[in-house]
Amino acid sequence: MAYQTLIVEIEDYVALIRLNRPEALNALNSTLLGELADALAAADKNDKVRCIVITGSEKAFAAGADIKEMSEQSFVDMFTKNFFSTETDGILKTRKPVIAAVAGYALGGGCELAMMCDFIIAAENAKFGQPEINLGVVAGMGGTQRLTRFVGKSKSMDMHLTGRFMDAAEAERSGLVSRVVPLAQLLPDAMAAAHKIAEKSLLSTMVVKECVNRAYETTLAEGVHFERRVFYALFSTEDQKEGMSAFLEKREPQFRDR
Ligand code: HXC
Repeated sequence: MAYQTLIVEIEDYVALIRLNRPEALNALNSTLLGELADALAAADKNDKVRCIVITGSEKAFAAGADIKEMSEQSFVDMFTKNFFSTETDGILKTRKPVIAAVAGYALGGGCELAMMCDFIIAAENAKFGQPEINLGVVAGMGGTQRLTRFVGKSKSMDMHLTGRFMDAAEAERSGLVSRVVPLAQLLPDAMAAAHKIAEKSLLSTMVVKECVNRAYETTLAEGVHFERRVFYALFSTEDQKEGMSAFLEKREPQFRDR
């Protein structure tokens, strides 16, 4: 499928999705977010995809929602269109693991998009921020909620109220990103992580997503209960037998997603 604002490549069971609006630092407009939701849904259905990487350019992962598109909208426009709601719901429905590989600016909706992915690998030049306060609005794609869960109330308030940017070192220190790598290593390292994930049983990787995400949605006791139930359920799979047999037989497992 050819997209206007994305470049999608599939190689060795990994889909690499590049946001591609260089003229606007990959600002997220309705076309881009709609195409992203579509590309993720297609990757989720595609047997040749077992992990997904979303990236931007060296200068910008995404510099936020497209301010030109938003500037003339009224409350009624935003409310009746349910602005970006369908697109973000679509993105969040992805069941296969999604890695954000972030270089340069990840601001506003760009930071929020990165936080919707399962984990973030950042290049040393990455800059995260929620500068919507400078536009007379607030984050609108989950930033006040997700950033607070990632970095805690104090730093989240600081970021949202001042609109300042956080560099990659601070983002790693604060728990926003899983690792920081030199810019030249960003894609090789993100793709290597994706390929490692793609070797696992898809049943297990999809279940990991459900379990970890549950930690944000429920109490500790309920989350642990959910985890235990799915842990037991995985003993009904061939991949559990294969994984444990392979360990005991000192060989690599051959998972078949069954
Ligand atoms: C539309 C954008 C854009 C954006 C950059 N551009 N960010 N266009 N929406 N969010 C465009 C610029 O207008 C310019 O186009 C080109 O990209 C290059 O940007 P410059 O500003 O010239 O680059 P630079 O000086 O390097 O500064 C980079 C920057 C700055 C610091 C990232 O562009 C910036 O502050 N951008 C806005 C960041 C922001 O406020 N994001 C939050 C948006 S609100 P031209 O045609 O002039 O060359 C949001 C809400 C989410 O995200 C919730 C939605 C539901």
